[in-house]
Amino acid sequence: MSIIKVKIKIGDEYQLFDYDGDLNIPVTTLLERLEYPIEYSCSCLQGLCGSCAMVINAQPQLACKTFLNKELAVTKNDMITIEPLSKFPVIKDLTVDRSILHEAMIDCEQWLESDAETNTNDLDFEYEMSMCLMCGCCTEACPNYEMGDFAGTQVAVSSSKLVLQETDKHHLKNMKNKYKEKFYPHCVKSLACEDVCPMKIPTQRAISKMNRKSVWRFWQLIENYK
Ligand code: FES
Repeated sequence: MSIIKVKIKIGDEYQLFDYDGDLNIPVTTLLERLEYPIEYSCSCLQGLCGSCAMVINAQPQLACKTFLNKELAVTKNDMITIEPLSKFPVIKDLTVDRSILHEAMIDCEQWLESDAETNTNDLDFEYEMSMCLMCGCCTEACPNYEMGDFAGTQVAVSSSKLVLQETDKHHLKNMKNKYKEKFYPHCVKSLACEDVCPMKIPTQRAISKMNRKSVWRFWQLIENYK
């Protein structure tokens, strides 16, 4: 048990709260225990749905998987700072509207028009890419993301799996062209997305696979030759 300060961004201001209690708890439990009601999103409380993503001590993280004692050990002080994701419109307190991520998925045609083709060599990769929670942590960390033309890393991750499975040639071409237009020219390869992904998805592999499939002519010539 110990007393810590909790600094939470509410609207345009930061409010300071005292918390006196167990530190071996996640941020979602901390928010429940504060006397002031704070609105935030959560569902599974097991790091599986992505809805509790927020900025904790300047890092985008899942609140239900972020424990106070670990955070305080890193920051080496008795304060924890919590903010809503800054790249999305705030609905209330720590709850944000991430529908732009879903809209980008629709715009970039992230679905299959055919039965999925399966190649056993690709299964591990496809499984890793399937773990995206659409939590928005990658978008938050990306130095180049602003709402607008950049579709975001979740599109590169999803595309890199779907282009291995899709057999409808017209749709395959559309997905590659969308990647070329909505992702490739905007990404500066900082790979901050990979650093913060709560599911540890190797986003660099997703991006390079999509670059090979849709942008780099040399690799496309080799693939067409096979
Ligand atoms: S509540 Fe589902 S990931 Fe945190």
